[in-house]
Amino acid sequence: MDKLLIEGGAPLHGEVRISGAKNAALPLLAATLLTPGTHILHNVPDLRDTRTMLRVIETLGARWERQGATVRINTDTLSGAEAPYDLVKTMRASVLVLGPLLARAGFARVSLPGGCAIGARPIDYHLKGFERLGVEAHLAQGYVEARVPGRLQGGSMYFDAPSVTGTENLLMAAVCAQGQTLIQNAAREPEVGNLIDMLVNMGAQIEGKDTDTLVIRGVERLSAAETSVIPDRIETGTYMIAVAACGGKVLLRDCVPQHLVALSEKLRICGLVIEEEQDCMQVSCPEVGDRSLCALQSVDITTQPYPGFPTDLQAQFMALMTMGEDTAIIHETIFENRFMHVAELNRMGADITIEGSRAIVRGGGRDSISGAPVMATDLRASASLVIAGLAAQGCTEISRIYHLERGYENMAAKLQELGARIHRISE
Ligand code: EPU
Repeated sequence: MDKLLIEGGAPLHGEVRISGAKNAALPLLAATLLTPGTHILHNVPDLRDTRTMLRVIETLGARWERQGATVRINTDTLSGAEAPYDLVKTMRASVLVLGPLLARAGFARVSLPGGCAIGARPIDYHLKGFERLGVEAHLAQGYVEARVPGRLQGGSMYFDAPSVTGTENLLMAAVCAQGQTLIQNAAREPEVGNLIDMLVNMGAQIEGKDTDTLVIRGVERLSAAETSVIPDRIETGTYMIAVAACGGKVLLRDCVPQHLVALSEKLRICGLVIEEEQDCMQVSCPEVGDRSLCALQSVDITTQPYPGFPTDLQAQFMALMTMGEDTAIIHETIFENRFMHVAELNRMGADITIEGSRAIVRGGGRDSISGAPVMATDLRASASLVIAGLAAQGCTEISRIYHLERGYENMAAKLQELGARIHRISE
């Protein structure tokens, strides 16, 4: 298994291009199943998760080819309606094929994803929503078997919590339903907006983009579409936090600064200088005296649905706070078990204790973290270990980096370009 070796302490300088968003690309790929034709998606990141989703839709009959970041997908014929356990267990987002399959084929059999490293993550909202559209669903041998007697019917639903993939699944089912569908307390994440844009390009009628109330008027027919995946706000935020941790000055190109307001606000309090333009951002860490980095002010965060502080940046921000001057309270409100990185950060010299859904991070200043062998436990936890390793004194060895490859395109190469001493080694 491959590992990452990081020799900490190098500031980051230069430019980095932000890739397309994993969590936007996945529902867009699933949406191509909705209607026959050749769909063209641009800016699709080449990641383990996007490759898995391409395998899922291929299993269902899609044919595709990739040229650079553009993927052409032909969905003229569907050869099945089943997403098998082997694929779903490696990527929960495979459940996103439920909505389009129900809309197009009237039937779907999708393995029920189990719990994962960050929490139980049920899909009950998805299933309750489908039922409101007339779907009959039951569980058999670990699979959700869902069927539509006749055509999908518009319906109303309210999510107890704004679920991102729940909203996306329901949108994809509702666009072809008979009549109107109302989704209240819908997720407002930019990735949902990207899907709405694609569905509207395909001929869907959807009102309420970027709000928590979506009204969908079902249409008889959709057509294939050409769409671009939005820039990855979590990748952008990860590099911003890395600069705050290591120092330096980096231009982040092809990103959407507006999608990162909650993080930028906190990083400015920490001491980072952020200059935003329409599609790029320059982040720099002020130096003081003999070129040593400015002290990092500790700041509390609470994760929330968009536009609040993203749970997908919580672990990376925690790595930064271990180097703060004071104590920071990190409150995780989205997932119940998203503190797996704490034990690993503590192995690197951090002082973090967990009290329920809060982590108390007692910052030890810029020099408090030292390199150590650590193990990645999930995607964003891995990114937090990379940030800690980049800023640490000495050498860090991160194992199980396949987690990282699920969601960060060429992370080691991009960081090397910025001057980081990071290398991938094969065992
Ligand atoms: N929830 C339920 N029942 C459901 C659906 C959700 O109880 O049927 C709960 C979840 O347990 C959680 C909350 O609702 O407490 C919100 O979960 P959500 O459904 O929004 O999460 P998701 O759609 O499964 C997506 C991202 C995650 C990201 C979350 C939150 C994709 C493919 N995944 O997951 O991304 O953390 O939204 O923003 O879009 C990652 O990229 O590392 C990642 C985990």
